Amino acid sequence: MKFYFAPMEGITGYVFRNAHHACFPSVDRYYTPFISPNQNRPMSPKEKRDVLPENNRNIPLIPQILTNNATQFLQAAKVLADMGYEEVNLNLGCPSATVVTKGKGAGFLGEKEKLRAFWMKFMNIPPFPFPLKQDWACVTLWKL
Ligand SMILES: Cc1cc2nc3c(=O)[nH]c(=O)nc-3n(C[C@H](O)[C@H](O)[C@H](O)COP(=O)(O)O)c2cc1C
Repeated sequence: MKFYFAPMEGITGYVFRNAHHACFPSVDRYYTPFISPNQNRPMSPKEKRDVLPENNRNIPLIPQILTNNATQFLQAAKVLADMGYEEVNLNLGCPSATVVTKGKGAGFLGEKEKLRAFWMKFMNIPPFPFPLKQDWACVTLWKL
């Protein structure tokens, strides 16, 4: 059986994760609370601190991104790939009103055509810093 640690925005940051991992070292994967890129920056200083490898030593960590914008998704994914991450997770499930009303999280999952366009744009932005494999809820990155 695999144990995956679900994220909680505002709660399960790197301090929580380090304490949890010290007590329960057999968790197979930790997902970060979502990183929310915008047109000005791929992630905030606080979000960056949360994923910095030196703050997550020996923790099997998958960063999660919340966006409905392919360009911003890739900008955040590039920063994460440069830190050494080989997989990221796209949030398509957050039901919070502040997220859904912006068409993100569960709001994005309900917009099939927008999701399709997201993937198409995503696949047409050259050059990729890494090859991509995707399904509907999770995107895995391999560095070349
Ligand atoms: C305060 C709070 C913040 C959360 N933040 C995230 C998040 O950033 N990303 C995510 O995928 N899920 C988030 N979730 C969802 C949880 O990870 C979890 O999937 C959800 O609470 C259902 O848990 P359950 O299956 O144990 O009932 C959040 C939930 C809560 C209550």
